[in-house]
Amino acid sequence: MDTTTLRNRFRQQFGTSGDLYFSPGRINLIGEHTDYNGGFVFPGAVDKGVAIEIYRNGSRKVCLLALDQKEYPYVEFTLDDTSKPEEHWACYIFGVCRELEERGVSVGGFNAAITGDVPLGAGMSSSAALESVFAFALNTMFADGRVDKFELAKIGQATEHNYCGVKCGIMDQFASVFGKKDCLIRLDCRSLEYEYFPFDPTGYKMILVNSMVKHSLGNEYNERRESCEKAVALMNREFGGVETLRDANYQMLDAVKERLTDADYRRARYVLDEKERVMAVCEALQEGDYELVGKKMYETHWGLSHDYTVSCPELDFLVKTAQECGVTGSRVMGGGFGGCTINLVRDTIADKFTSKVKRDYARKYGIIPEIYDVTIGDGSRRLQ
Ligand code: GLA
Repeated sequence: MDTTTLRNRFRQQFGTSGDLYFSPGRINLIGEHTDYNGGFVFPGAVDKGVAIEIYRNGSRKVCLLALDQKEYPYVEFTLDDTSKPEEHWACYIFGVCRELEERGVSVGGFNAAITGDVPLGAGMSSSAALESVFAFALNTMFADGRVDKFELAKIGQATEHNYCGVKCGIMDQFASVFGKKDCLIRLDCRSLEYEYFPFDPTGYKMILVNSMVKHSLGNEYNERRESCEKAVALMNREFGGVETLRDANYQMLDAVKERLTDADYRRARYVLDEKERVMAVCEALQEGDYELVGKKMYETHWGLSHDYTVSCPELDFLVKTAQECGVTGSRVMGGGFGGCTINLVRDTIADKFTSKVKRDYARKYGIIPEIYDVTIGDGSRRLQ
């Protein structure tokens, strides 16, 4: 990412220069809405993310300049403030400071400028990138890097829960902190054991298509989580030992079906299906069977659309268009309700697909979808 403008604006605003840090957004091959259900996910960091320049100011004040915010790009708060800032974007940074302090780090005042090239609200975890870059930088500046990487990811997640109203899982922050160039990460969200999988699908490309429907995860996301928790509570009462849907199976779920609403039942069932798909994809990847990976991606999409109900007509249209074009796999990525589809596309049809999807989507919805070629990059780091 070109940091020249960031450097210039920081100097203009604060009269000094500081240190540069970067944290990426993420993709996720498969394993959607499984993280907060104790399941597996398969994310990787991308080469797009959030960069900051930051400098201690020796006070208790935090002064923030967000280069990409049109309204209210400048916010100040003090580390002693009890209520969070009014500007939503600044709550992420406020939350990270608080969560670090809760873990014994005495954060001091700082000036920071922020910029990014990961599209906002596109399902690529721009918010996790923002949390992670501050958690990483402040840990380096005020705790000599004492807080380990697992805890940095948890700080980002706790920020979402406690300051931003999203009861998310750990996937996005984990991928942002732990990302590794050219590798996907198979993460067990229950034990936090993880393994890097070199990902080089020879003959295929990973392409994201942005529906340009901006999502903001909130109530609807939290409701999905509650549906899963209701099913877990019933099964636990009935059978014991069910802490999350990871511990459940179809027989158990069917045994409590009558006591669940249809919507809750279908959501829980989707999670059980997805658990199996992730395992199938792991095996398929080891055998280089990308056709099977793609088939599972489509199944995930229709499960997310019909059962988990986190898709929208625009995303369904993008997936159908991919299917018509002969794309190997396509599905909504991330929390849903808008954002991108992730597509596994054979090299030979990549150009045909991108031009068709742009043309057909523009015809139907009057807007040209943005297309991004995925490059898997490294996780949070200092830039110089
Ligand atoms: C969002 C959340 C993640 C995860 C995905 C869905 O990105 O932040 O924790 O639940 O949705 O897989």
